Amino acid sequence: MSEPRWWQKAVIYQIYPRSFQDSDGDGVGDLAGIVRRVDYLAWLGVDAVWICPFYPSPMADFGYDVADYVGIDPLFGTLADFDRLVAALHERGIRIILDFVPNHTSDQHPWFQDARRSRESPRRDWYIWRDPAPDGGPPNNWVSQAGGSAWAFDEPSGQYYYHAFLAQQPDLNWRNPDVRAAMYDALRFWLERGVDGFRVDVLWHMIKDAQFRDDPVNPDYREGEPDFRRVRARYSADQPEMLEIAMEMRRVLEEYPGERLLIGEIYLPVERLVAYYGPDLGAVHLPFNFNLMWQRWRPDAIMRLVQAYEAVLPVGGWPSWVLGNHDQMRIASRVGPAQARVAMMLLLTLRGTPTLYNGDELGIENVPIPPERVRDPFGIRQPGTDQGRDPQRTPMPWDRTAHCGFTTGEPWLPLGADHAGRSVAAQQGDPGSILALARALLDLRRREPALSLGDFAPVTVEGDVLAYARTRDGRRVVVVLNLEPVPKTVRFSEPLGGRVELSTDSASVGRRIDDRLELAGDEGVIIATD
Ligand code: GLC
Repeated sequence: MSEPRWWQKAVIYQIYPRSFQDSDGDGVGDLAGIVRRVDYLAWLGVDAVWICPFYPSPMADFGYDVADYVGIDPLFGTLADFDRLVAALHERGIRIILDFVPNHTSDQHPWFQDARRSRESPRRDWYIWRDPAPDGGPPNNWVSQAGGSAWAFDEPSGQYYYHAFLAQQPDLNWRNPDVRAAMYDALRFWLERGVDGFRVDVLWHMIKDAQFRDDPVNPDYREGEPDFRRVRARYSADQPEMLEIAMEMRRVLEEYPGERLLIGEIYLPVERLVAYYGPDLGAVHLPFNFNLMWQRWRPDAIMRLVQAYEAVLPVGGWPSWVLGNHDQMRIASRVGPAQARVAMMLLLTLRGTPTLYNGDELGIENVPIPPERVRDPFGIRQPGTDQGRDPQRTPMPWDRTAHCGFTTGEPWLPLGADHAGRSVAAQQGDPGSILALARALLDLRRREPALSLGDFAPVTVEGDVLAYARTRDGRRVVVVLNLEPVPKTVRFSEPLGGRVELSTDSASVGRRIDDRLELAGDEGVIIATD
């Protein structure tokens, strides 16, 4: 067995910097704010943080519209703040992963400004330009992820440019070697400043069909769904040439010592997702696996997903699990506050590297946003769809002071009515809190190699629960999760011979378990076998 890499044992914590900690009273979080909270991250016990974009940006998509890949937006601070943050994290043994947004730039990026100047501009071909269709309309039927056609007409030059997201986010032409070279230099800039890896934004979108064929229409589209579901993205995304780029990125990371990590944001079913590990696993280390986020919350459905994923993982491919991020509904809203505890146990005991979204450790739910305070352009463009992402992006509650210690000013999005009681300070003092549970799970995962690195196998039981074992070097840990509020009696086909090491319900801890286990409603347990 080869030595595990640091990121195989790691738990990654996602920070949405606008909402983590404000340090200057403008109501928006910043890098100096994160520095103030590094002790919390160390106390919680995470191994790495991934920080969403903080580069100079007009903020049309809150930083996912980058106007300069090698700088810091003044809203978030300075390069000196960034260096301080890297040092503060590294001192505590926490790695730092940046968000790299290569698919598109801001329309305010000097490259695009230059490209749109004229058809002859040297950077014209850095973006994707097409002539109108014969009727003057867009060149094909591709739909923007933010709604509407993915093509914007540029009056002066008489051509359309392509934008998979907002019109303010024109897609780069990754078939152009100059684009690749410039973007790889941006990676090197941050690698030299000590970052430990990148999460690559919408990696599967980066290459589009060379012939720009129409996407097939989705016959299952229902009114009220977001616009992009009108078509199936057969030609506009997930093209085979994508792998070459992922492999090139990987090689850039490998120019530097210390196993820098490459993560891909890829919304695809597991069978397609695993292609992104690449031949000989030379592409993405960790293609983010989001499929748990819409799996039915049932033991059989979740087990089917885990087994389908395990079955298609290439040899040496390391799994990834995600239960929340800044784009999706909060897990506590999806499954309810009691099940959020069980979900935390699931996330931190599956085989693979988990990524935990800031606030989920507090059991934070989606915060309702009054219509006049909606800020997300996706939500403003498509009211009434599930695309408004503000409710899952609200500020972290730290304590019971004004705005829960997030800012001394007016927070850019409201905090929830119950957030003082859910704050870090309130939960740190309560051993029964979800925060205490998350911390105990992280601690156990670190101490127990069967949990961080062990093999996965389902455990056959009588009783409608999710049960699996993790084993390594003769150690066997069994996880049993009750996904419903009603108590369950679980019978094992063979006596387990163990004791409850950790439970979502402290009353069970220490209990001896042989062939039978009584689970309370919404209870999950981790059993260490003798
Ligand atoms: C990713 C980001 C999302 C952003 C989009 C466009 O999906 O997570 O927040 O809007 O890419 O960059």
